[in-house]
Amino acid sequence: MREKNHWKQIWEYTKKQHFWKKCLLFDLFCICLAFAVIMSGMGRGAKVKQQLTAALQKQEDAKLTSAKAQGDTGETEDEIKDNQIDGQNLEKKKVALTFDDGPHPQYTPEMIAGLKERNVKATFFLLGQEVEKYPEIVKQLHEEGHQIGNHSYKHEQLSKLSMEQACQQVTRTNEMIFDITGVYPSYIRPPFGDWHEKLDCEVNMVEVLWDVDTLDWSSKNHAQIVNKVLKNIKENDIILMHDGYETSVTAAMEIIDTLKKQGYEFVTVDEIIFE
Ligand code: NI
Repeated sequence: MREKNHWKQIWEYTKKQHFWKKCLLFDLFCICLAFAVIMSGMGRGAKVKQQLTAALQKQEDAKLTSAKAQGDTGETEDEIKDNQIDGQNLEKKKVALTFDDGPHPQYTPEMIAGLKERNVKATFFLLGQEVEKYPEIVKQLHEEGHQIGNHSYKHEQLSKLSMEQACQQVTRTNEMIFDITGVYPSYIRPPFGDWHEKLDCEVNMVEVLWDVDTLDWSSKNHAQIVNKVLKNIKENDIILMHDGYETSVTAAMEIIDTLKKQGYEFVTVDEIIFE
């Protein structure tokens, strides 16, 4: 009995204090609080996402603006490289500079230095008799990534030679270039553009002629050489020059600087022939 009374007392007490109502109220309060916390968290998440999107858009806009600015002012080598890495480069028009009759002891190294400064690769059609005299320059051409082609041994008109003599002019030069660079040339520019009609059977090489003849060896005039190219150039053209003259070096540099600004890219002849 005493026990029962004790429980009853507790019950009466809780009823008097509105204990159950308070419990219910407390539960409701907890649920509301939890709801509020969840909602504010979601709100913040959405806000963070919004901020991130805005930041990314800002970055993208900045990139576009700077790319536009570079297009207006002309790019430096590093900027061009960066753009290529970013994949933001517009499609460039390819052209190839080719230099015949070298190597020349003074002007070929000057040409190499100028090309290096502009990050341009060119193609050099070498004469065997000059390769023999300046193997170090041939080695440098190869090491700098320029393409080396064959221009015969001593610049004779191949069609006027016997098949055997013509072949010897070509193979002898190929062997000499191979001894220095470890690579056999695949391309030949026959002197005077005159290919021995049956030489194909003997020597498996690709003949490379030209689209724009600068006549640099004849005029030796900087402005005339530059104008000849700028007036006639179009996409995928091969430009014929000679690396044995000072005016050819300076003109080549101006041609590169001007055409780059016009959206041209300088490549070696293999990239044009096997387009
Ligand atoms: Ni020549």
